[in-house]
Amino acid sequence: MNRVCEILGIEKPVVQAPMTWITSPELAAAVSNAGGLGILGFNAGFETGKTTPEETAEEMRKVIRRTRKLTDKPFGMNVMTSAFDGAGFSKATIQVCKEEGVPVLAAIGTLDAAQIKEWKDAGFKVIYRDMYPTVASAKAAEAAGVDIIVATSCDEGGGMPVEATGTMVKTALISEAVDITVLAAGGIVNEALAKASACVGAEGGYVGTRFVLSKECRAAQTTKDDILNTGADDFIVLTEAGGYLKWRCTPNKVAKAAVEENAKGNLQPSIGSFFAGMLKGDMDAGINTVSSAASLIRSIDSCGEIVNEIARGYSN
Ligand SMILES: Cc1cc2nc3c(=O)[nH]c(=O)nc-3n(C[C@H](O)[C@H](O)[C@H](O)COP(=O)(O)O)c2cc1C
Repeated sequence: MNRVCEILGIEKPVVQAPMTWITSPELAAAVSNAGGLGILGFNAGFETGKTTPEETAEEMRKVIRRTRKLTDKPFGMNVMTSAFDGAGFSKATIQVCKEEGVPVLAAIGTLDAAQIKEWKDAGFKVIYRDMYPTVASAKAAEAAGVDIIVATSCDEGGGMPVEATGTMVKTALISEAVDITVLAAGGIVNEALAKASACVGAEGGYVGTRFVLSKECRAAQTTKDDILNTGADDFIVLTEAGGYLKWRCTPNKVAKAAVEENAKGNLQPSIGSFFAGMLKGDMDAGINTVSSAASLIRSIDSCGEIVNEIARGYSN
């Protein structure tokens, strides 16, 4: 049996990667019902931002319960490791995940081995995505006891590592270095790219952008059309977070302004609001960020169709 499926208790090794506001109970449940694993991102299903960790965690409890009504299959929650969670938002949410029996944490941030042990002792399955994965960090994550490592790269949508290694090579390097199972992330948008990642060691896909263009994703239609209407050579890349992250985006007003700021030496340009931009569809209000393979997505399909197609790439 495929190890990703065995560990997560799912039928097809396709994980819907967390994508903050545009994830929801409907998206996560649709993926889980199709045999993959849906993940609730930060602010998944929220209608407004919450200001304290406690308020956020209680709102997330409602979202978890809504998801449970839509699926009896496993699903996961996106959390930050301690180094990225200064204000304690993830800490409070993890407590709610324990109380509500959410089985999987999909963690990002610098590895904290003691925290991984805590999560494992609490019974969670842990998917870990170092935002800057290296062979050394993958080995450290394996030693710390994570269940599944995500090999990610500058091919991914969302905030991507400022480095030049793509998903296929990153997956090959990490798969060779560790014995635990590896999910490829970044550009896994169809069967062919899933198969390519399987050839270099991935046992499943950690898929974001393809699910933005799903029927069940609550991103605005304007957002989806903007992606579908952008040609392969027309996406632009900006640098943000003081040079820590890059973002590949459709060439909208906010992204172009950020690139201009970068040219003037500003590595902390505004990228606007995910809520007003990708969720509500105001393309003058926030970046619309995608994978390097976004232009290979030709239609808006159901999560069931997407899970089935990508799973075929991992079926030998
Ligand atoms: C719009 C968007 C928002 C994202 N937000 C998050 C996030 O909040 N947390 C996180 O861990 N990863 C986030 N990511 C990264 C994804 O979880 C995943 O690693 C990435 O989408 C995989 O690459 P792909 O888009 O090429 O499939 C985001 C990605 C996208 C496209």
